[in-house]
Amino acid sequence: KMNRVTVIGSINLDRTIRVKQMARPGETIRASEVFSAGGGKGANQAVAAKRSGADTAFIGAVGDDDAGKTMAELLAYEKIDLSGVATLAKTATGQAYIVVDEAGENSIMIHAGANQKITPTQVLTQADLIKRSDFIIAQFESELNSTIQAFTLAHENGVKTILNPAPAMQDVPAELLKNTDVIIPNETETEILTGIKITDEASMQQAAAKLHALGIAVVIITIGSKGAFYSYNGNSGIVPALKVKAVDTTAAGDTFIGALSTSLKPDFSNLVAAIEYGNKASSLTVQRFGAQPSIPYRHELG
Ligand code: RIB
Ligand code: NA
Repeated sequence: KMNRVTVIGSINLDRTIRVKQMARPGETIRASEVFSAGGGKGANQAVAAKRSGADTAFIGAVGDDDAGKTMAELLAYEKIDLSGVATLAKTATGQAYIVVDEAGENSIMIHAGANQKITPTQVLTQADLIKRSDFIIAQFESELNSTIQAFTLAHENGVKTILNPAPAMQDVPAELLKNTDVIIPNETETEILTGIKITDEASMQQAAAKLHALGIAVVIITIGSKGAFYSYNGNSGIVPALKVKAVDTTAAGDTFIGALSTSLKPDFSNLVAAIEYGNKASSLTVQRFGAQPSIPYRHELG
């Protein structure tokens, strides 16, 4: 049976500029290329879930501008259910300004726009969608109270939730964490959430213990080219990433999360296999440019 995945979160139009090295303050440098592509952590995760095989829906918002039209068209083309996406008048669609250097590393500045105007009331209109999902996924690029509403509603109906606490945020509300089943931070986000600096596997275990103590069943810490650490039900370990040459790591984490949500059983019994599927998917994403254009399809994942 195919998982039904509903993502609540951000939709951005990404504007990417490629350079040899990042400019320093006050410095002017030449770029080798500029391009626009679909992005936003929420939308990327939805595209990854859909392309890797899940029945996928989205709750979010775009503005009534050209970027919003472009993004709505791109996501409709993916056959993601957009009935929970609002088009807001006199509002700018989210945008991200991304600089990618020669090593494939990026720096990103975002303007949230419509993503910050998703409302808890809008979420309540999507109650049926939430109830029939296997997983609800959220990040921190959109309005927080709406995410809390979605996770609360999910838990009231026995639906499992996946939180990607990105970009990093201080003082995440307890109400959100207590309704989270799976948390997927990277190393920096883990440190901000737990106060524990991630240096080795022992520090990851310590951080995971703190998150488990909040009632979160599954902790997955993404560790870039090293793969992912997991802790669940007394077991923990590292699932190594595939060794590839990265040209643009944008949306690598998003791809991991979307693909994982497609293959993970809601009882978490195949956690390691689902992480392997996520690792495989993100290893393809980092070898291609742009966020959504780089996200792989099921037939590429074996
Ligand atoms: O995670 C990658 C995404 O972060 C980009 O697509 C950009 O839109 C930013 O939101
Ligand atoms: Na990429």
